[in-house]
Amino acid sequence: MRFLLVGGGGREHAIGEALVRGGAELYVVSKHRNPGLLRLARGYGLAKETDVGKVLDYAEKFGVELAFIGPEAPLERGIVDVLEENGIPVVGPSREAAKLETDKAFARAFMERNEIPGRKAFRVFSDVTEMRSWIDDLGKPVVVKPIGLTGGKGVKVVGYQLRDNDEAKAYAEELIRKDGRVLIEERTDGVEFTLQVFTDGKKVVPMPLVQDYPHAYEDDKGPITGGMGSYSCANGLLPFVSREDHEKALETLKATIEAMRKEGTPYRGILYGQFMLSKDGPVLIEYNARFGDPEAMNVLPLLRTSLIEIAEGIVDGNLRGAEFEKKATVVKYLAPRGYPTNPVKGVKVEVDEEAIAETGAKLYYSSIDENFTLLGSRVIAVVGIAEILEEAERRTQSAIGHVKGELFYRRDVGTGESVEKRIRLMKELGKDFEPNPC
Ligand code: GLY
Repeated sequence: MRFLLVGGGGREHAIGEALVRGGAELYVVSKHRNPGLLRLARGYGLAKETDVGKVLDYAEKFGVELAFIGPEAPLERGIVDVLEENGIPVVGPSREAAKLETDKAFARAFMERNEIPGRKAFRVFSDVTEMRSWIDDLGKPVVVKPIGLTGGKGVKVVGYQLRDNDEAKAYAEELIRKDGRVLIEERTDGVEFTLQVFTDGKKVVPMPLVQDYPHAYEDDKGPITGGMGSYSCANGLLPFVSREDHEKALETLKATIEAMRKEGTPYRGILYGQFMLSKDGPVLIEYNARFGDPEAMNVLPLLRTSLIEIAEGIVDGNLRGAEFEKKATVVKYLAPRGYPTNPVKGVKVEVDEEAIAETGAKLYYSSIDENFTLLGSRVIAVVGIAEILEEAERRTQSAIGHVKGELFYRRDVGTGESVEKRIRLMKELGKDFEPNPC
């Protein structure tokens, strides 16, 4: 089957690999030539993923039978609607359904009117005085969010990027002046985790839970990035997420899919829930309308069911299920020095792929071109897979030594110490639990 994959990051390299593993003839459109995808693809079109007209031209030129959309920006431009209007079925939500990610005010209001579990207090403001007095009345630390897509960089939280609610008010005022509106939410304390599901609009099929490390530097310090690494456990849970809390998070996503269908905007594709595990259970921080990056690289290498079969089930409305190998994974992203604020660009890196293969780790390319030149965002992800987390982390670490260049990464992703830190944090918040093995 001829597949068009839109996007050229590490996430898309993992999607492309899973499609080819299932027997797909792969064609790719992205804004740079990803060296990993270049080897997998029969045809490669260079275009901005948001240039829907060009993507459609390539889809027609390649004669694809199905398309898979990696990133969120083309979803916001209605790429799914356009391809489908032209007879190409797509794994990914329509422009309206993707608003769960692309319009944060829509997402919160949708949760409220449908009484989706895992809600939190929020308001959307266009009036500065009302915003200031709501924050005062709430009397709790807040989170300030731009309404639209910001590549994860516009959200600011009191206690992290903002000192106190006064700074939050000033930042919110700035956003109102710039965008006309701002979303304010109460802050939820806890530990974040990711639950991704496949859905055909009715059936919801969960993938193993993943924990992402969004901060740029060790010990969860520094600016927020797209994610510097992530891990998952063989049992599909996380050390601090009980089966019961996992069920609650899944309930949030199932209720979401059900309500989207009832509202006449059925959601098909991959739905990603970013949850905060609070002392009282999981609270939804945000939806994403696609796989996570790096989280796709934790789950896709473990997928036993053919991704083609899953993709066909999603577009035909008869998704059956998905089986995953019961293994732990650790992904570490290498990023250019200075990322995310002032990344080194235009210099080459050396990758000894053979030596990496000998360590047993996998490699996914991202913001790097076919000449191995840095393009400014996260460059290469290394993925260790093993029976237990400790061994998966060791494999990732031993592979990283075979990549040379002006790069940095977080040594602490998936280490025993960093997992312990998260368990400790949950206990300090008053959650009484026995950690799951990982
Ligand atoms: N890793 C976070 C995201 O993909 O949005």
